[in-house]
Formats: sequence, C-alpha cells, structure tokens
Amino acid sequence: MGKTIIISNRLPVQLQISNGSITAVPSVGGLATGMKSVHSGGDSLWIGWSGLTDEEIPKELAPQIDKALAEHGSSKVNLSQEEVDGFYFGFSNRTIWPLFHYFLEYSEFELDSWNTYKNVNQKFADAVLASSDEEDTIWIHDYQLMLVPQMVRKQRPNIAIGFFLHIPFPSYEIFRTLPWREEVLEGLLGSDLIGFHTYDYERHFLSSVRRLLGLEVHFNEIDVSNRLVKVDSFPMGIDYKKFSTAAKNHGNNKASEQSDLQRRLNKHKESTPDAKFILSIDRLDYTKGIAKRLNAFEYFLKKYPEYKEKVRLIILAVPSRSNVPQYQLLKREVDELVGRINGELATVSWTPIWYFYRSLPFENLIDLYTSSDIAWLTPIRDGMNLVAKEYIATRTDKTGVLILSEMAGSANEMNEALLINPNNFEQISESLYRAINMPVEEQKERNSQLQKRLERYNVEKWANDFMTSLREQRELDAINISR
Ligand code: ADP
Ligand code: F6P
Repeated sequence: MGKTIIISNRLPVQLQISNGSITAVPSVGGLATGMKSVHSGGDSLWIGWSGLTDEEIPKELAPQIDKALAEHGSSKVNLSQEEVDGFYFGFSNRTIWPLFHYFLEYSEFELDSWNTYKNVNQKFADAVLASSDEEDTIWIHDYQLMLVPQMVRKQRPNIAIGFFLHIPFPSYEIFRTLPWREEVLEGLLGSDLIGFHTYDYERHFLSSVRRLLGLEVHFNEIDVSNRLVKVDSFPMGIDYKKFSTAAKNHGNNKASEQSDLQRRLNKHKESTPDAKFILSIDRLDYTKGIAKRLNAFEYFLKKYPEYKEKVRLIILAVPSRSNVPQYQLLKREVDELVGRINGELATVSWTPIWYFYRSLPFENLIDLYTSSDIAWLTPIRDGMNLVAKEYIATRTDKTGVLILSEMAGSANEMNEALLINPNNFEQISESLYRAINMPVEEQKERNSQLQKRLERYNVEKWANDFMTSLREQRELDAINISR
C-alpha cells in the first residue's frame, strides 16, 4: 500500500518572515482546520502553497522554509506574485468563489486569470507527480484545484484520485454561466471519487455533467470513457474530542491560568449577570452575511428595546482575501455599521457590539465559545460552516443556543438548532428573542441530540468514509475494466 498525498492550496500552516526568521502560523478556514486533524494522525504528505510568494522568500532562507514545512509533513508549490494574483486572488476568488456561492454579480470572467489558473493547477499536478507513484492515493481539495485530477490522471492513468469540494456546487443555471464550464467539469472527472458536503451539491454537479457534457449518469456514477467516476456526499465533521476536551479543561482552569480575554469576559459577566453574550465567528467574507446580521441586530434592539444593556454581540471576523475589492468594501461596510450602531445605541455602561478583526489562537476561540450563551451564524451561502459544530462541541454542560442559517451545509445535520433564513429580519429577530428566553431544559435537550451526532460523525469518520469509498470505487472499476 502506498502513501496518501493531500493536496490543497492552503497548507496546515502559513509561513511568515519577520526580521529574518520564519514563523509558522496555523491556517484558518474549514479545509485547513478539518484536514489538520486527519493529517496529524497519519504519515500522509500535504502539498500546497506556503503563503509566501517567490519574491518574498530570500534565497538564503529557502532551505529553512522547506525544513519548517517538513516539520508539518508538508511540501510547497512555489508561486510567484503574478501567479498568486491570477490564480488565487483572481480566478479562484473573483470568479469561482462568488459564482459557486450564488453571487453572480460579483463574478468576473477574465481570460488572463483563467489561463493563470490552468498554469498553476498544472504546477500543483506536477508537484504531485514528482512526489508520488502508482501505488499512492491522491486526495485533492477544493475549488482552487479543480483541474488537477485530470492533469494527474493523464500522466498516471491508474493512480487512485479523490477530490473533495469544500464549498457549494451551484445549480446548473448558475454554473452554466461560466465560460470554461466544460473544462472545469472535465478536470474534476479525472477523479475516481468526487465528494461534496451535501446531497444538493452532488445533485447539482450531476445535473451539470449530464447537461453540459452529455455523459451518462447511472444513479451516482458517471461513465467517463473507460472509467466509472463515483459522486457522493460526505458532510465534513469536526475534531469533536479536541473541542470538547479543550472546553472541559478550560472549565477547570484556575483564575491564574485564564487568558486575558477570559478574565475580561468573566468581569463583564460578573457585573451584568443577566446579560447574554451572542457570538458570531467567521472569516470576513460577504458570503457569511455579517453586514445583514448587524442590521438584524439593530432591528432586534429597536423592536425589543427592553434588551438594551441585556445582550452583547461579539463579532469575531478573521481577515481574509484582503486584496480582492469585494472584501475591502465589506471591511469598510462592517466597520461603519459597527461604529454607527454602537454610536447610536451605546450607553455609559454598555457597548452593544464588540468587534474583533483578527485571527485568534485556539485557546481564545474556546474562551469565546464557552462564554457565549448564543451562537449566531447567518451565512447567506456556506458550503458547510464548521463554527456551528465547534460551538456545540464546546458546550460541555449542554446549555447554549445555536441560531443557524438554513443556507449553511451544516444546517442539514443540525435540525435541533434554530434554523433561519438570513434574509428574513423578522424571523432572525424572533429567533434571537426565542434563544434569549429558551428554558435551560430545552437547550440541553437540543444540544444532547446535536452532540451525539457530532461526536459520531466526526472529522475522522468523514475522512475514513471518503477513503473507504475511494478504495471500493477503485475495486469496482477494476472488476468492470477486466470484464
Ligand atoms: P470557512 O471554511 O468558510 O472559513 P468554516 O466555519 O467552515 O468556514 O471554518 C472556519 C474555521 O476557521 C473554523 O475551524 C474556525 O475555528 C476557524 N476560525 C474562524 N475564525 C477564526 C479566528 N478569528 N481565529 C482563529 N480561527 C478561526
Ligand atoms: O472552506 C472554504 C475555504 O475556501 C477553504 O478552501 C479555505 O481553507 C477557507 O475557505 C479559507 O479561505 P482561504 O484559503 O482563501 O483563506
């Protein structure tokens, strides 16, 4: 049996250089946090981009960079600034990301960035080819690398290739607007197995394959010349134990062991024991519905003024893709909204919104999850949303209420949450009211169900299910070919 090679744009860590020394910072985002747990358990190799462009790496530091990545079982694909601009900030995040999240009006269709996307995908494929042989299993991740499966297949016709998409696959009516739609589908079909978070994404993909390529689809298998490609849904889980154990240990921390953030949260809890903390955690991304959420919070406070000084919204937004104009606009919009709402509604002793625009260490995420009475996640469109799952896993006493957008993939598995349509202010505001007033018994009942499910369908099970399915597909295909 060969080794497993994971390949994604982001590695588990991002490298930074300051004052001539290299630091490795954990990557943020669902793919990196989820796959990190899978990768740390085995002897896989992870190939991806280091986060530094060729121009940013001084020659004398190159060996140290390779060494730093090797410590994380990783190896890098070198990208120039021009490549990062066209491939990552360009085609991946100005074309595919908005299109696949139904923000059609944000999608830019530029030939130059498509060409760079193709070239960079070839670079990733070459890196895989250089580090693998026919015995290995290749697991390719996400929308940045949709052409890699076919590029690898061309050179290694018999190698096992799995692909998992971490974002939604849009309906045919949206997907068909992409000028390079056939190439993208053909790129993906180089895989033996293609995985999605939900059945809906799977069904959309199959419909596009049928209608755009005219290929025969038998239930969830596609006939591609001499091979069968299987398509299935694998809802990604979290490292449940990591989050629940961290939350348990956190509860046993002595005052001297607590973080500054926790001490400050405690202080506010002590001074206003009846007040509720409402928490949102997202990358600062227009798909996450942060601006709408802020407007809905204002709407709620105007509708129920008795909750002034009784609720506090903590918004943690992690900086993301800040070279893309839509993200810069969103940053400005969120800054202004927070300023305006706080300016209008704050009192001497109360600031309605606490807004943090930064990445926080794991310990602080646990501080926030465990201190918050309500998690309020209202994406307009989200492939999965692992934050919803992480919040529930940290509620070791089973209290807490999750309000979750039905447009998040995770809503399919979290029926016990208060599910809302992020465009319906009235419903959002009522769900906040309901969450604030939910009896503890009901909270515990809902969370017990959720926790049982999340513990069972954790990230390890997700990865095992995917790998088992890939293996079975290969065996089946081998039988078919030999007939
Ligand atoms: P996405 O993949 O779109 O970013 P997810 O909710 O699926 O959304 O995953 C986000 C991941 O990033 C979670 O595992 C979460 O813990 C982590 N994360 C989000 N915000 C922060 C932050 N400010 N600091 C550190 N980690 C964060
Ligand atoms: O989960 C979707 C996703 O795009 C992942 O691919 C990625 O890790 C995450 O969001 C963060 O995005 P980026 O890698 O662009 O910072």
